[in-house]
Amino acid sequence: MNAPLQGLTVQAPPYVRNAKLIAWVAEMAALCKPEAVHWCDGSTEEYDRLCQRLVDAGTFKKLDPAKRPNSFLASSDPSDVARVEDRTFICSENKENAGPTNNWMAPAEMRRTLQPLFDGCMKGRTMYVVPFSMGPLGSPIAHIGVELSDSPYVAVNMKIMTRMGRAVYDVLGADGEFVPCVHTVGAPLEAGQTDVSWPCNKTKYIVHYPETREIWSYGSGYGGNALLGKKCFALRIASNMGRDEGWLAEHMLILGVTNPEGKKYHVAAAFPSACGKTNFAMLIPPAGFEGWKVTTIGDDIAWIKPGADGRLHAINPEAGYFGVAPGTNTETNPNCMASLGRDVIFTNVALTDDGDVWWEGMGEPPAHAIDWQGNDWTPAIAKETGAKAAHPNARFTVAATNNPALDEAWDDPRGVAIDAFIFGGRRSTTVPLVTEARNWVEGVYMAATMGSETTAAAGGKQGVVRRDPFAMLPFAGYNMSDYFQHWLDLGKKLEAAGAQLPEIYTTNWFRKGEDGKFVWPGYGENMRVLKWMIDRIERKAEGTEHVFGVSPRYEDLNWTGLDFSAEQFDTVTHIDKAAWQAELKLHAELFQQLAHHLPKELPATKAAIEQRLAA
Ligand code: OXD
Ligand code: MN
Repeated sequence: MNAPLQGLTVQAPPYVRNAKLIAWVAEMAALCKPEAVHWCDGSTEEYDRLCQRLVDAGTFKKLDPAKRPNSFLASSDPSDVARVEDRTFICSENKENAGPTNNWMAPAEMRRTLQPLFDGCMKGRTMYVVPFSMGPLGSPIAHIGVELSDSPYVAVNMKIMTRMGRAVYDVLGADGEFVPCVHTVGAPLEAGQTDVSWPCNKTKYIVHYPETREIWSYGSGYGGNALLGKKCFALRIASNMGRDEGWLAEHMLILGVTNPEGKKYHVAAAFPSACGKTNFAMLIPPAGFEGWKVTTIGDDIAWIKPGADGRLHAINPEAGYFGVAPGTNTETNPNCMASLGRDVIFTNVALTDDGDVWWEGMGEPPAHAIDWQGNDWTPAIAKETGAKAAHPNARFTVAATNNPALDEAWDDPRGVAIDAFIFGGRRSTTVPLVTEARNWVEGVYMAATMGSETTAAAGGKQGVVRRDPFAMLPFAGYNMSDYFQHWLDLGKKLEAAGAQLPEIYTTNWFRKGEDGKFVWPGYGENMRVLKWMIDRIERKAEGTEHVFGVSPRYEDLNWTGLDFSAEQFDTVTHIDKAAWQAELKLHAELFQQLAHHLPKELPATKAAIEQRLAA
């Protein structure tokens, strides 16, 4: 089918049969006025061609093929290095539906704002039509999106991060539904104008229309601002779909854990950004855990739907990892390092003189490198000026299939049945290493009141506790209190149907001792906590009940192979009455902020904890 527009014919390939899609592409092309339209087929040839185009444009550097086969380094504009939460909008018809934790603008007003910005925004560029499936193709848990973008960097990243390409059109068929996602770097090229290596615009809008399930992104080429399948679709729009349709879209990794008897469990875990989710998803059990195996289903996002068996089934909607590079090394995450051996797109790490990459925390620094901004970098310069070789939010994009610990069910359209949820905060005090909720409502309470101390890397003031309910603060696409209600309702519904609900745990790997250092060793040692949870599910482990749940005693964990004293254990698990009284005041502040539609179960749970604390 052809749709003519101002001299440019948007000719869809014959295998694209979806009339709505073809009409929408034509409409968007008429608005954005690209020089050409390219319908991505997702082939390797196409990927190679686009990568070469990015090399020719100076966006990519090809790394030494002997050291990192088929891998590239992109350096972004220094002003375009991370998600921009203050420029991210949920444009629901009613302000209350976005809630107090989201930026809101009325949809009509936002459309009026964006119209002139998008008019001609792709001049001189190619519009890529990127069809993608979030989740295994054709899975009843998966959904389809189509991103229109004027960034070839986005097209090649989407090829790794999603199931992208021609097969999506077969699933979409003639009248299937898709989420329309429009993205522009906002840097039209006038005739004869030469391009820059990372086009972007200082004006940025990351816009979601939840009622019409649309995403419009303007001005940034980076990460979650531009790869619209990830945070924009899989969390903000999908959380709206989930609320309306009775399922969950969560900021959770999914892992499989198999015990020495060969029984397999599935755990979904929510941690705020930059709290080591990828490390946990790829955990290698330490010595003392022979026979235990951890496998990765996903590292960032889970879509979870009730199955016919009454259990919650989860898929990873993504097909790749867009992970933070700095801090990743063969000790903290050997599986991740093994994943990064080839076929990787690195963004904003340093380039070594031998054509490889380096970042802070990777290991021995090179004598000389080119930093992420293109400047000379040496350890001496770093010492003198504090200059970072890699940006703290530097990333790798790599296919899940590169992961040696990939779960065999990672692409199973039926998903995996979830046995436990983990909610992990980042707190230097107060919150113990691990707590089991006694019931669903207590679990929802713990998740809703989760907090995280800001890190210097995030640019904020260090050590300030930011409440990050369910690790969804920047990602819930509707009112946070309604989101809590949705979790409570789903639990009630499943319970009423006689289903076995997953256990809910909270963790905190980040408690510090008096010397200001982390006490818990973390990384692979988190297996000790994971084993306790799995054993609890099997009623094989003991614990002690306290004011808000059940935690292990020292003797309830397996300490083989780790020198960790009862005193150290006390430092990471001790519940301080005064600290908890102060903590509950902060929960009250959160509930005040979220008062509109706040489920009554949450203040009631708080009152019960207060009573037990006072007793
Ligand atoms: C991410 C994030 O990139 O949570 O996954 O910010
Ligand atoms: Mn994330």
